[in-house]
Amino acid sequence: MRLRSTWGGAALMALTLAAPGTGAADAPVSRGEEVYAARCKECHESGDDRAPQRDALARKTPAEIIAAMTGGPMTPMAEGLTPEDKQAVADYLTGH
Ligand code: HEC
Repeated sequence: MRLRSTWGGAALMALTLAAPGTGAADAPVSRGEEVYAARCKECHESGDDRAPQRDALARKTPAEIIAAMTGGPMTPMAEGLTPEDKQAVADYLTGH
């Protein structure tokens, strides 16, 4: 019992830490994570099936995510983001 809950906690922590760690290992909170949390998360982690959820975005390529924000359906959502911000959020989501 005790062992199981310890393992569960560790697995959850690994999941939480995995994505930002791969992108910008030097920054505690990567720019991509910051942008995603501020601009994308409300829809893409809402459980609303109109928007592809985060696991679906993670299966796309960074280029597809950038294209969605640059002339694609997410252009209005990405308004005001720099090309660096878009690259950062694409890298963050795909773990590249
Ligand atoms: C207001 C809600 C909302 C916000 C905010 C939002 N999205 Fe979306 N997103 C959607 C919906 C709804 C779709 C599905 C659009 C469609 O199928 O036409 C979508 C689709 C996408 C797709 C897939 C596009 C494709 O070509 O299939 C990507 C990639 C994406 N969003 C990335 C982002 C990123 C990155 C951000 C933050 C900059 C963001 N979204 C912010 C609602 C949102």
